[in-house]
Amino acid sequence: MTFPDTFPVLTTERLVLREVADRDAEAVFEMESDPVAMRYWSRPPMQELAEALASIERAKGFFAARSGLRWTIALSGPDRALGHVAVFNFSEQSGRADLGYGLARQHWGQGYMHEALVAVIGYAFGPLGLRRLEADIDPRNEGSLRALDRLGFAREGLLRERWQVVDEISDSVLMGLLAREWRPPR
Ligand SMILES: CC(C)(COP(=O)(O)OP(=O)(O)OC[C@H]1O[C@@H](n2cnc3c(N)ncnc32)[C@H](O)[C@@H]1OP(=O)(O)O)[C@@H](O)C(=O)NCCC(=O)NCCS
Repeated sequence: MTFPDTFPVLTTERLVLREVADRDAEAVFEMESDPVAMRYWSRPPMQELAEALASIERAKGFFAARSGLRWTIALSGPDRALGHVAVFNFSEQSGRADLGYGLARQHWGQGYMHEALVAVIGYAFGPLGLRRLEADIDPRNEGSLRALDRLGFAREGLLRERWQVVDEISDSVLMGLLAREWRPPR
């Protein structure tokens, strides 16, 4: 695994994936305070903008500590943040990391996450040198399962009662993709 010295900006047909910045706070808050978008997330929706700023600070810290990468997904024309993708929980020894992502609700259904994930997976299995990516998805989160199915992730197993958020307990589907299986869609 080769962790980059400078933050890797990725570009696609419609998007620029760049390092998260303080100016993304409103967009982060828009998504992460929305109870619908946060329905299957690992924590409750944000209540105030200060939480978005704190989350951005933590994400910048992941890169500084070489422990994770969080890209803001922005439109390539106006620098407007739509959501994010993160690769984190690296195991350098095993060449593996977790994948996390989300879009503000108004941007669902337009293939933006698909486009962003193709770029991030290509980077993770290319320059970053990972061998395996995994994601932990609530079995009721159909949109997220579809997004990973479409990219060739395998549904590897069901982890029972893995999360508790406030008073709700939920299972996880563990999704995995190996570098040798990766076929970037054309
Ligand atoms: C998971 C999430 C990112 C999926 O968003 P999405 O917009 O459905 O994902 P994609 O970018 O893959 O878009 C695919 C959809 O766009 C449609 N689409 C439209 N134009 C498209 C294009 N140019 N290319 C590809 N798909 C396109 C597809 O038909 C598909 O719709 P369908 O699933 O109804 O068939 C979104 O639901 C979300 O942010 N949820 C909240 C956060 C969350 O749960 N994150 C995951 C936690 S693990």
